[in-house]
Amino acid sequence: MSTHTVTAQSCANIAFIKYWGNRDHELRIPSNGSISMNLGGLYTHTRVTFDPGLRCDELVLDGQIQAGAPLERVSAMLDRVRRLAGLAYNASVQSSNNFPMGVGIASSASAFAALSLAASRAADLALDEAGLSRLARTGSGSACRSVPGGFVEWRAGNRHEDSYAYSLAPPEHWALVDCVAIVSREHKSTGSSEGHPLAYTSPFQTARVDDAPRRLGICRQAILDRDFDALADIVELDNNLMHGVIMTSSPRILYWQPATLTVMHAVTRWRTEGLPVCYTIDAGPNVHVICRAPFASEVAERLKTLPGIEAILTATPGGPAQIINED
Ligand code: PMV
Repeated sequence: MSTHTVTAQSCANIAFIKYWGNRDHELRIPSNGSISMNLGGLYTHTRVTFDPGLRCDELVLDGQIQAGAPLERVSAMLDRVRRLAGLAYNASVQSSNNFPMGVGIASSASAFAALSLAASRAADLALDEAGLSRLARTGSGSACRSVPGGFVEWRAGNRHEDSYAYSLAPPEHWALVDCVAIVSREHKSTGSSEGHPLAYTSPFQTARVDDAPRRLGICRQAILDRDFDALADIVELDNNLMHGVIMTSSPRILYWQPATLTVMHAVTRWRTEGLPVCYTIDAGPNVHVICRAPFASEVAERLKTLPGIEAILTATPGGPAQIINED
């Protein structure tokens, strides 16, 4: 094959209905389906070249040469691409995030979506959106949701073939804004890959998973109807259910910091006062404050006045993973 270099771009995403726990850890088949919004403007750029001259895979992340676990995780993804393409060459991978390093925004979703697209195209594989989403899922579950654009649902499925994400609505369907309140830049103590296997040690996980189809139905409909009140209610309920599981697993994990709770209380108060806003938190202390676009600057201003907020990033619904350069 001819070697060429492909650069892909993919957005981070925020889950409205969360993925926590796997039915199959190896393949990252989730215990429940999930729904998210791509975060436009918060993205990873990844450049891949398969090169017969390389003695091993190479990974440069935000300008730093990587070894150990990050390189192994990327190599495992490259192995899947090599197997699919019948290719033996090693690859050089350069990846960078446009959101500030160490800001606590999960980058694995955008990273593995961009890597799957760049690597599969560089290996001359023609995968459709579902095929790409399945491939991205094997690197990081939530990455499958960063492949399609806009508002996205990941159908849990039972096996590799039927576990992938698709678009519920394009980015322009609903002008929402995610104001991410950064309360800590520290690297999280327990990553989601270590957290998922603990999910069923919580007595709450079975109840959370059993009720997931109901929450997915409400969230899907709220998005289709652009019904913010219904969305806010189900997003916060789903968030609290996931963190309830996380806080009661064995060992227990507590991702929230005091400032996380400060934001949760403030958002609850603001909504009671009539501001269309709700909170959701991933596997870390930062709070994603979701609102309707006309209220975004007011929400950001109010967040700035709260104690313990280090920075605020804002994102509007983002598009699908895409190739941005090929040579
Ligand atoms: O894709 P992972 O393994 O990083 O897991 C993501 C887990 C959450 O961010 C907490 C929830 C989600 O659905 O994105």
